[in-house]
Amino acid sequence: TVKPRLFSGMQPSADSLQIGNYIGALLQWKEMQQTHDAVFCVVDLHAITVAQDPAKLREATRRTAAQYIAAGIDPEASILFVQSHVQAHAQLAWVLNTITGFGEAGRMIQFKDKSASQGADKTTVGLFTYPVLQAADILLYDTNVVPVGEDQRQHIELTRDLANRFNTRFGETFVLPETQIQKETAKIFDLQEPGNKMSKSASTDKGVVWLLEDPAKSAKKIMGATTDSDGSVRYDAAEKPGIANLLTMFSSLTGRDIPSLESEFGTGGYGTFKKALAEVVVETFTPIRDRALELLDDRAELDRILAGNADRAAEIADRTLATVYDRIGF
Ligand code: ADP
Ligand code: NA
Repeated sequence: TVKPRLFSGMQPSADSLQIGNYIGALLQWKEMQQTHDAVFCVVDLHAITVAQDPAKLREATRRTAAQYIAAGIDPEASILFVQSHVQAHAQLAWVLNTITGFGEAGRMIQFKDKSASQGADKTTVGLFTYPVLQAADILLYDTNVVPVGEDQRQHIELTRDLANRFNTRFGETFVLPETQIQKETAKIFDLQEPGNKMSKSASTDKGVVWLLEDPAKSAKKIMGATTDSDGSVRYDAAEKPGIANLLTMFSSLTGRDIPSLESEFGTGGYGTFKKALAEVVVETFTPIRDRALELLDDRAELDRILAGNADRAAEIADRTLATVYDRIGF
């Protein structure tokens, strides 16, 4: 049987991923690469819709790819490639731009939010057509499933509309992708400010566990996490957000359910619980960090993996683009 094709993109992230990315995205992708024919793309073309420093962008792209491989995206079972290495993305995006309504693109909430926060002078036309490039990414690979957060739902709807429109006008060409909204249960919060999502743009370094930091430092951050004075280890997101967050982390990283963690650690004190979680974090991320640093030290090896994967991606994407060009009269 043929596995459904899955497409997912990730932005090149400047330095290191944080463990929210690992738990909220990577763990799910690792699972889905067993059951899907998965295509993962580091979206550097999307990244330049806001100003980037060239040397930093190049480095961020490689670091991101290295961390995804180290964390378990298998570049042989799946395809893991860099968007700018496959020419068809920009080419199909142009074609799709010509069947996208100006008003239709203007209704995208993410564009409205981002352009409002940047101001009209800084907002590029590239940012405006960002969702059209995203549609090209997805449609090039005959994608069946796109796993995304709720904030991306509108972009996948646009992708389906564009695919439908093209198919109606020019003949059956594109597969219509299904949106698969990722479950919210795996949301990780800042260790210092458990009301905020853990994020690379957090205000303090102490609140964020980085994939590439010294694991001893990660352990220290877990030990210093904000809790409460109640003293019992139980899941109560409203009253005890700090402890609830640590329980979510523990459960996600070990596969153990929260009730079993509550009964093991409930009355043993926060210190004991945090120490056990710190050990889990160190055990999980030490080999990932080692592998990522190894890949980043051996530039030739990483470049070889990415070039081979770009070839595999291009083989699929070029076929789709050739059909599109033929249909529209090129
Ligand atoms: P960041 O907030 O660090 O900039 P991104 O917004 O680039 O992260 O998110 C990349 C992926 O990681 C998305 O799929 C997002 O849902 C997931 N993710 C990011 N932060 C978290 C978090 N704190 N908890 C769960 N998932 C997260
Ligand atoms: Na973000």
